[in-house]
Amino acid sequence: MAGPIALERMSMTTIKLMPSGKEVPCPPGDTVLGALERAGYALPNNCRAGACGECRTKVLAGEVDQGMVLDMALSAEQRADGYRLMCMAKPLDHSDGAVIEIEYGTLDARPKLFPPRDRVLCVVTEKIVRTPTIVEIRIRPVGDPIRYWPGQYLMVGDERAGIPPRPYSIACAPRADGELVLLVARVPDGVTSNWIHDDVRVGDRWTVAGPYGTFIGDPGTDTPVLCLAAGSGLAPILALTDAALRRGFRHPVTLLFSARTANDVFDDGLMSWWTAKHRRFDFRVTYTGDDPPVGCRHRGRVPAVLPEITPDLSQHSVYIAGSPEFVNACVATSLELGADEQRIFVERYTPQAVADVPPPDQLSG
Ligand SMILES: Cc1cc2nc3c(=O)[nH]c(=O)nc-3n(C[C@H](O)[C@H](O)[C@H](O)COP(=O)(O)OP(=O)(O)OC[C@H]3O[C@@H](n4cnc5c(N)ncnc54)[C@H](O)[C@@H]3O)c2cc1C
Ligand code: FES
Repeated sequence: MAGPIALERMSMTTIKLMPSGKEVPCPPGDTVLGALERAGYALPNNCRAGACGECRTKVLAGEVDQGMVLDMALSAEQRADGYRLMCMAKPLDHSDGAVIEIEYGTLDARPKLFPPRDRVLCVVTEKIVRTPTIVEIRIRPVGDPIRYWPGQYLMVGDERAGIPPRPYSIACAPRADGELVLLVARVPDGVTSNWIHDDVRVGDRWTVAGPYGTFIGDPGTDTPVLCLAAGSGLAPILALTDAALRRGFRHPVTLLFSARTANDVFDDGLMSWWTAKHRRFDFRVTYTGDDPPVGCRHRGRVPAVLPEITPDLSQHSVYIAGSPEFVNACVATSLELGADEQRIFVERYTPQAVADVPPPDQLSG
């Protein structure tokens, strides 16, 4: 037994975080992002497939195999400057003493995240149709609860059945019984979302991985908060808001939800309860469709209505989740209204299929 273990230890590459000098072991086959997360270090990431560029990091010393990534996520210029995408980068040298140095954080470089677990067996305990396009799934781990920060996501799929794992945000703050809520929107022709909508049944066993992601904002936020969400983008916002209200967050929290019609609004019971219980919580809906409900307060897309709701965002922290287009539009408006870039936190639901089968002209290698 001692032989293989000793060999494994010798073949670990060390990832050195600079400027702190902290060291993280990276076993052969693991990505730099995977190794960092296992050791509890936060690194921004989104698609985990070389498509979005969120995990772009400068490699200061050592060589990595970058794998297949899109040029739009890592340009030739960035590559020449030493940047790589950590979600796909694997150390090339696993010989004894091999080191990869990367730029990471400040001199503290303190661990922030719970290490993700690869295969967590869960049972689907509930499936509720929330809107014509969104289904709520509740799962409960059979073993230990998954420890996560509100705002993080799980990877869900069934590779044996050909269902690719996709990120789905956890829509609740951690609970004692470990139950996790997911809100899944049906994407036309989407493999995993349609499987969840059409084939998944209460009682099914799932193997999920996680938690992942860094949309945890700043747990020490001490400013008024504005949350902006559309569709299933409400999921991580619910988790963050739930956690903040539970811990007695003392500043105003405004949640603006963008819906096409009244049928797209869900969790309004929970919103009413939060509004009654926390006098600093304010829930608004803006309707973007042609047929808004009678008496609605706001009509139009978030960029159009935000100036009338929160005209000055200079003192706010802003949390935004949804499609990349929605997030980008909301970021632009928030900046126009004076929000500090450092206090805007976003979760873009970047599609992954594009990264699984990249067009040949966009591949780099
Ligand atoms: C960090 C993160 C968190 C996420 N959290 C959630 C969540 O809580 N709830 C949720 O419902 N989704 C969430 N998503 C999106 C989710 O991971 C999948 O991308 C989505 O469910 C589509 O997967 P699919 O396999 O069904 O579609 P695919 O088979 O991957 O895609 C099929 C086709 O649809 C296109 N497509 C994919 N997604 C979209 C889209 N959103 N809009 C328009 N076209 C699209 C693809 O380009 C492709 O052409 C999240 C994404 C990220 C990156
Ligand atoms: S998370 Fe690495 S490119 Fe998207």
